[in-house]
Amino acid sequence: MSDRYQFLAHTPVGQFVVKSLGLPDPPTLRRHGPGEPLVDGSVLLGATTDGRLLGPVQAQLDAAGVTVATETAEGEHHCGLVFDATGIAGVADLVALRDFFAPRLRPLQSHGRVVVLGTPPSAAGDASAAIAQRALEGFTRSLAKEVGRGSTVQLVYVEPGFEDALTSTLLFLLSAKSAYVSGQVIRVGATGSPGAPPVVDATTPLSGKVALVTGASRGIGAAIARVLTRDGATVVGLDVAQAADELLGSTRGLGGSAVVLDITTADAPQRIAAKLAERHGGVDIVVHNAGITRDKKLANMSANHWTSTIDVNLGAPRRITDELLAQDLIRPNGRIIGVASIAGIAGNPGQTNYATSKAGVIGMVDRLSSSLAGTDITVNAVAPGFIETQLTAAIPLLLREAGRRMNSMSQGGLPVDVAETIAWFADPRSSAVRGNVVRVCGQSLLGA
Ligand SMILES: NC(=O)c1ccc[n+]([C@@H]2O[C@H](COP(=O)([O-])OP(=O)(O)OC[C@H]3O[C@@H](n4cnc5c(N)ncnc54)[C@H](O)[C@@H]3O)[C@@H](O)[C@H]2O)c1
Repeated sequence: MSDRYQFLAHTPVGQFVVKSLGLPDPPTLRRHGPGEPLVDGSVLLGATTDGRLLGPVQAQLDAAGVTVATETAEGEHHCGLVFDATGIAGVADLVALRDFFAPRLRPLQSHGRVVVLGTPPSAAGDASAAIAQRALEGFTRSLAKEVGRGSTVQLVYVEPGFEDALTSTLLFLLSAKSAYVSGQVIRVGATGSPGAPPVVDATTPLSGKVALVTGASRGIGAAIARVLTRDGATVVGLDVAQAADELLGSTRGLGGSAVVLDITTADAPQRIAAKLAERHGGVDIVVHNAGITRDKKLANMSANHWTSTIDVNLGAPRRITDELLAQDLIRPNGRIIGVASIAGIAGNPGQTNYATSKAGVIGMVDRLSSSLAGTDITVNAVAPGFIETQLTAAIPLLLREAGRRMNSMSQGGLPVDVAETIAWFADPRSSAVRGNVVRVCGQSLLGA
């Protein structure tokens, strides 16, 4: 659905009105296009004296063909700033953040990318280091609200031992693929086992992988199917009978296959498992995208609205995952990816059922991540904010406008923004990205 305000705000008259009245001025976000370099410009690397990541990060970016600088030449502009803050060991050291960033923000290009690297407070050593590392969250979230011009800021906590497992995460966060992701705290290495991530063809990292995507006929699901196919995966798209024509058309166009099925039917897990076993001998990536809203204030909510929402969004993904795991159909280095929502984090009036289901998806990530800690299967979720789809087009106008503007980008995201985040989780090099719930919400004010 088109954003008329954003269109009008970019006309000469619109710009005058926006500036005079101090109205939101949504930047045109840059998204990754076919054949474009992932990181378009030089990335400046900085570090505190005792940081442990400068060398490994430089090596990983060099190997990925990214131009890396450790100093800024006169008049030079960078497309990204990466700062290794792992050497910050106490409150007094936090000044290193100001010293590095303050002089370097103005020369950062529009749509710039800032990544701060830290150590999870629980692994930081003594109390002083733990407190200082925790403080990085406030810094990155605030800076994300300041940078503007389509730029983003993230914090990545890297568990000791996982210094060499950062390639896919850095490339995602430094590229236009993360256009609508900002102010996030990402953990690398939480429960995985250290070890060199596999070497993949960077343009088709999912080559040879089979991905199940539920709700794939339209909206975010269709974008996930397209992006995973672009990255080399064979997609098995699933949707309900009412969406069969769209599903068959889109999956055929992608060279994948379709499963027409309601995920809430009693035998759905077994039927999905049978199809995946018979067609592909298993599955590598499972994306639980299908979802519904049935909004009503709780006092007016029917039992059916409650039950159907919880069952599509949470009950069915849980049963399907359990069945695939029980039948050992998720292959080594497999991925289970949930689609939560910022409603599941912040809550939303009229959405007690939906928010319950989506908070439950986050619970599933937590629980499964720890139960699969000893395996190489990872579990993560995206939590989209306001994304332009048929689901949000049905929201009443005023609420829709509020949803679009109440974030650092002053606009809704696109389905591809969610899909790119899922493709990063799915990347075989993301084996240490575990147990994360990453918001794709332009740093929405809700629940921030
Ligand atoms: N659009 C947003 O702003 C937004 C925000 C947060 C979370 N999400 C989540 O993203 C996911 C996709 O949302 P969307 O906006 O693309 O929605 P959408 O309504 O456009 O698409 C949802 C798809 O799921 C399918 N589906 C619904 N019930 C199903 C069932 N029982 N079995 C199989 N398929 C079923 C639908 O047919 C449809 O194709 C959902 O989980 C949604 O909750 C969306």
